[in-house]
Amino acid sequence: MRDAYVVGVGATPFGKLDTTLRESAVLAALEAIDQAGIDPGLLEGAFVANALGMAERQGHLGPLVMTSLGIPEKPASTIEAACASGASAFREAYVNVAGGFADAYLAVGVEKVSGIDSITATGYFAYASDYVYEGSCGASFPGLYATIARAHMKRFGTTEEDLARVAVKNHENALLNPKAHLKKKISVEDVLKSTVVSTPLKMFDACPFSDGAAAAIVTTKEIAQRLGGPMVRVAGVGRAGSLAALPDRSDLTSLTGTKVAAAQALKQAKLGVADVDFFELHDCFTIAELVAMEDLGLAAPGKAAAMVRDGQTARHGDVPINASGGLKAKGHPVAATGLGQVYELYNQITGKVGGERQLRGVKTGLSHNVGATGGSVAVTILQGEN
Ligand SMILES: CC(C)(COP(=O)(O)OP(=O)(O)OC[C@H]1O[C@@H](n2cnc3c(N)ncnc32)[C@H](O)[C@@H]1OP(=O)(O)O)[C@@H](O)C(=O)NCCC(=O)NCCS
Repeated sequence: MRDAYVVGVGATPFGKLDTTLRESAVLAALEAIDQAGIDPGLLEGAFVANALGMAERQGHLGPLVMTSLGIPEKPASTIEAACASGASAFREAYVNVAGGFADAYLAVGVEKVSGIDSITATGYFAYASDYVYEGSCGASFPGLYATIARAHMKRFGTTEEDLARVAVKNHENALLNPKAHLKKKISVEDVLKSTVVSTPLKMFDACPFSDGAAAAIVTTKEIAQRLGGPMVRVAGVGRAGSLAALPDRSDLTSLTGTKVAAAQALKQAKLGVADVDFFELHDCFTIAELVAMEDLGLAAPGKAAAMVRDGQTARHGDVPINASGGLKAKGHPVAATGLGQVYELYNQITGKVGGERQLRGVKTGLSHNVGATGGSVAVTILQGEN
């Protein structure tokens, strides 16, 4: 294994976009190529993350993206791991470079669901559950995460206000993110009185359905140095899973996949979680951010809510979480999300975020991307070297 570096990232705005899947993916990829200053001909292939191409009747996106980038002869395969598709594609690009199979690889994630209504989208999303035991019985993802929330409340006394504070923080951060989907300041009361989606989760506890794309280019140390940009090393990657269906699990308040993937990534990076300066966590529903904090060891079981309440996870708190606005407010274009998190890590580490949203003095960032209710989990650690 050799070291690998991120040399460029790109992202479309997240939200309702007029562009097609292919166009969004290409826009994000071109931004990454431009930022890296790399000749697209040096890219030896791509992994294109996409989970819901059926919403646009488009599969096999890889060759379309490569054709538009002017490198149709380069291989590109679709990666699908539900909402963890983006970070999974990033990992495959990393593995190709770190393993010596290629010197430069593109990872791009893209989703487009605005062409279908919310009920149809909820039905399509449910195909990522264990459809026989969950989806076909009427359990959508809001319902499955509500089940996790209820278990957490019963075991630890977590309240609806505790969940609401996660949404308030992430909406506040998204207000400053020009690429965020939801730009709306909200209060705990707003969350509590918003429409119930699946008890105890309400509309403001949920991520929106978003379109969008994000991309990253991974390359060798030699090429990164030659390109002359900031040196941001892929310090660790972890990829794991959990029992696919909630009914099979003995504990609904924790995701095994997060613990395993985080342990892999931190071991590779030779870091403890306390050495990480900031985090982008998978907050598809507010409860998910609390569970992720506890599984990563940022808080003891049942204690994450207190950290949020005390402001420790705020943008300029001790443990900044989701300074981007997270899935909750930056938006959740399913297969783009993991790469959107990598985009945020890179831009924070290199100081490109700027302004009030720029985290001060951050060198090491960790992102956590969950597919479904944890059947797929990917953890990525990036570290700046200059
Ligand atoms: C919460 C939810 C049901 C709302 O859907 P909806 O009622 O069809 O809402 P619409 O898309 O019609 O939007 C209506 C308004 O609410 C806003 N909105 C939609 N979802 C929102 C959310 N999650 N949080 C805050 N505002 C939201 C829209 O921006 C829109 O505002 P506007 O009228 O000012 O433009 C839907 O966003 C949802 O199911 N989210 C979860 C998605 C999901 O499960 N993803 C997979 C995770 S594993």
